[in-house]
Amino acid sequence: MFAILKIGGSVLCNKDIPFSVKWDNLERVAEEVRRAMDYHLERGEELKLILIHGGGSFGHPVAGRYMKKGRFENMERGFWEIQKAMRRFNTLVIDTLQDYGIPGVSIQPSSFVAFKGEEIHFDTYVIEGMLKRGLVPVVHGDVVISEREGYRIFSGDHALPYLTKRLKPDVSLHASDVDGVIDGEGKVIRSINSENIKEVVKYLKPSKKEDVTGGMYLKVMEAYRMGVRVLIFNGNRRDNIYRALIGDYSIGTRIN
Ligand code: IPE
Repeated sequence: MFAILKIGGSVLCNKDIPFSVKWDNLERVAEEVRRAMDYHLERGEELKLILIHGGGSFGHPVAGRYMKKGRFENMERGFWEIQKAMRRFNTLVIDTLQDYGIPGVSIQPSSFVAFKGEEIHFDTYVIEGMLKRGLVPVVHGDVVISEREGYRIFSGDHALPYLTKRLKPDVSLHASDVDGVIDGEGKVIRSINSENIKEVVKYLKPSKKEDVTGGMYLKVMEAYRMGVRVLIFNGNRRDNIYRALIGDYSIGTRIN
């Protein structure tokens, strides 16, 4: 099985307190990934996995210091500071994965990813080679150079659809702090497919509060159009990450 798993910043960090890790959750995520890898190994299979994590309480507060009226300023220092904050967080994540015997290796987008207009420049040759060797690339949200704006945030919500479209995993997993896509009555929609997509879209009108990459409407539409199986589920609930990684897609909203 080949899976790409994005773990939202709010699962791993307390977003209200700068540089605070939710250690219990980080350890639990590592334990569940380990258990899923063992599940596949016991069946003579392999779990090929790319992990993606966001900025959490590391990247966001530092990026905020260099953001003035929607533009980055003083980035001769800011680029390095944001990169450093994200590297610190990524190191904590990978150290924990390694403690559980998961061969996580760091992929730092600020060093080689760029925006060319809306297009993302991201060479995946090395990531693909790592996967072939049984390594687990851990990509994180980061600051990157941008042709148009000079600098831009490359978030986990850019990385997940980009890598999904390009590498075509068996499943693309969004572990966030919501139980899935919610219908008009507050219930989780179990499955979104060609039969109900039109109806679902009615519940998901993009709100002004949601940013361009984060809104549920865009997430669902993008996932639907990719044609790859996508699962949106709550990564704060025990065993959900394990279940998603062993192919139990009943825990949230399954798209396609
Ligand atoms: C943001 O990444 C990265 C930086 C702020 C440098 P995300 O946008 O993916 O982070 P989360 O998931 O919201 O924490």
